[in-house]
Parts: sequence; C-alpha cells; structure tokens
Amino acid sequence: MKIGTALSNSATKALLLGSGELGKEVAIALQRFGVEVIAADRYANAPAHQVAHRSHVLDMTDTIAVKNLIALEKPDFIIPEIEAIATQALLEIEAEGQCTVVPNARAIQLTMNREGIRNLAAEQLEIPTSKYAFAQSFAELLAAVDDGIGYPCFIKPTMSSSGKGQSMVKSADQLEAAWDYAKSSGRVDTGKVIVEAKIDFDFEITLLTVRSKDELGEIKTHFCAPIGHVQENGDYRESWQPQAMSPAALKASQDIAFKITNEIGGLGLFGVELFVNGDEVWFSEVSPRPHDTGMVTMVTQKQTEFDLHARAILGLPVHTCHHSTGASAVILGGINAKGVVYEGLEKALTVPTSEIRLFGKPEAFVNRRMGVALATADTVDEARTRALKAASMIVVKA
Ligand SMILES: Nc1ncnc2c1ncn2[C@@H]1O[C@H](COP(=O)(O)OP(=O)(O)OP(=O)(O)O)[C@@H](O)[C@H]1O
Ligand SMILES: [Mg+2]
Repeated sequence: MKIGTALSNSATKALLLGSGELGKEVAIALQRFGVEVIAADRYANAPAHQVAHRSHVLDMTDTIAVKNLIALEKPDFIIPEIEAIATQALLEIEAEGQCTVVPNARAIQLTMNREGIRNLAAEQLEIPTSKYAFAQSFAELLAAVDDGIGYPCFIKPTMSSSGKGQSMVKSADQLEAAWDYAKSSGRVDTGKVIVEAKIDFDFEITLLTVRSKDELGEIKTHFCAPIGHVQENGDYRESWQPQAMSPAALKASQDIAFKITNEIGGLGLFGVELFVNGDEVWFSEVSPRPHDTGMVTMVTQKQTEFDLHARAILGLPVHTCHHSTGASAVILGGINAKGVVYEGLEKALTVPTSEIRLFGKPEAFVNRRMGVALATADTVDEARTRALKAASMIVVKA
C-alpha cells in the first residue's frame, strides 16, 4: 500500500460524492493519512466542502456531470456518501478499471433502491426480514396488504432515505394517503412502493461492520459493538453504544451482517440496520458507508466509524474495539433560515464529558440535522441523559 503526497503528482486522491456531516468526517480521516480529498455535493459550502482540498457543486444524479467530474479529477477512490447517485456512471468507471468505487458500484446500485437490497437479502440470502411486497398501483398495494402483510405496516418509496415519503399505516382507511405520500415524496419516482409488515422489536440497532485487509492482504470482517438508536418519523434522533443484547441475538446479528456484507463485497465500513426482539433478529437495510447513528463512535471508539472507513478503503488494518459507553443526540435546525447562529455552547459544554459538533450547513430547516451532541458515562442511561441535555442547550437562531 502506497500513499502519495497530497497536491502533488504523486497524490492519492479520493472523491467524495456527497459532502454532508458524515462526508466531512471521512474527509478529515483521509486527510490524516495525507490523502488528497475532493468533495462534491449539490449545493455550495456543504460540510465536507469546508475541509476538503477542493470542492465541486453538481447534480450527482446526472450521469454526464458525474463522468465529467471523474475525468477532471481522476480520483483513485470514489466514495459515495449519499444514496442518490448516477450509478450508471459508477458502473462504467469501475469497468474501466482506473479507480475504485467504494465499496463497489454494484453495492451503490443495490442499496440505493430498496427493491435491490431487499430481494438480495430475503430471497437470495434467505435472511429474515419483515414480510414485504412491492406495489405499482394502489390496487396492488391494497391486495398485498389484504393478502398477508396486514396492519400495521410501513409504506415507503423504493428510493428514499431519512424517512422521506414513509408512513406507518394502522388501518385500511389510512392506506390511500400513505400511497399518495410515498408516490409524491420519493427521491425518484420509480413507480413502485414497498410495503412492509411492522416488526414488533424490543430495540433496533446499527451493527457497524468493516471489511478490511489483514496483514496478509486477506479480507476480514470486523464488527463494532452494537449501536442502539431512536428514530422519529424515519429519522434518527438519539444513538448509544453499546446496546445490551443477548449473546444469541448478537450472534444472529453478526451472522446476518456477515452474510450481507460478504455478498456485497469490496472494502469499507457498512451500517447494517437490524430489528431485535429477544433472541430474534430481522434485517432492515444496509448502508455501504458510515451511518448517521454511528456518530456516537466519535466518543466511544479509538477508531471512529470514519477512521475505520478510511483505513479499510486504503487497505490498512483496523481495530473496532470501544473504550467508553457513550451516546449521541441530534441538534435540529428548528427554524428555516440561512446563515444561522448557534447559542448556548458554553452551557452545553458544562455537561460532564459532553462534546458538540456543529456541521456548518449554510441553511437550516426545521427538521434538518445541524449538529450533534455527544457524551460518555458509566451507563448508557447516563450517557443518553447527558447527550440529550447538551443538545437541548444549543439554540439555533436566525
Ligand atoms: N418493517 C418495519 N417494522 C418496524 N419498524 C420499521 C419498519 N420499517 C421501518 N421502521 C422504522 O422506521 C425507521 C426508518 O426506516 P428505514 O430505515 O427503512 O427508512 P430510511 O428512510 O431508509 O431511513 P434512514 O435513511 O434514516 O435509514 C426504522 O429505523 C424503524 O424505526
Ligand atoms: Mg434506515
């Protein structure tokens, strides 16, 4: 493994497609190894733009625009940070063999559409998931629910993230509204929605799973301690590590995570989302990249999820152990405004062990994640209390 000198002819270059708060931390982790980082997003001054060597603004779903950017920058690594990407461009670039798409172009294509990853997990790999069906019309949706999925169920656009277009339906009279919402709010209207039976879980986790090379150059799978989290309207609000669970459930979780990431292949970190009830575990979805709930690793692990991703991508060894019990709580915009001001940091940072990360997003929205509060403690409960308290002390003003 060789790394060149950033900003010289020998540079090892990484192109981030998506420059949010997770990309920002990946950029910093890569720069610690001297990698030249180029950050792209659909808007200017995105979080990772602010720390990268260079930045670009483009529509990342535009195949031509993405190919032109890759031709201009000639990166060694293309690191997608978001789901909505021109996957055709990545498949073509990968086939040319000039650079590595992280973890690989098929992974990006599979996980961007719920249909691809769900069919792979449930049908091909026979991993337990919620009962599900795809529907292309309201009549098909109604039939699928009546034929066995039942209520309550979740209706989601096949292409969406952060809970967009998603709703939980408790009875037949709510189904049409859920159909309309999913059809109109997906990132791309694929013409299809997924309907999933609701899983009654005790808790849900993200199992951060790393595929990296060992000293012999062989690919090994490593697991971080499970991260528990709370979601509201399909978007994460709080996370903590470790989530206590039975040895059998942990084993089942790791088996599922191994199966799915082994099938996807490539090098890097994955966020495997799982539902747990007692010893039983269901697969929900997987991100072939750092996960928002994994921000907690910034205070719990020596090698954060971002360090792990950077190391794995570069072919370097990793250690996934955690040294502390910790929690994260998100700081939402609460208002719609540009160039907002944050107050209360001096108070928030009096909460023992607390840390605040502000992402520097140029524009706030009511439900947009603008920062995160982190804390450690002897117990998960205390860490959560501290992180929530610190987050609540940050005031976002126009
Ligand atoms: N079948 C289900 N049973 C129970 N809860 C579910 C189910 N599907 C979704 N949820 C709840 O909704 C949350 C978001 O669902 P999902 O991860 O599919 O959406 P998403 O838009 O991909 O969100 P994100 O991008 O934030 O991961 C889950 O974490 C879980 O809390
Ligand atoms: Mg999810």
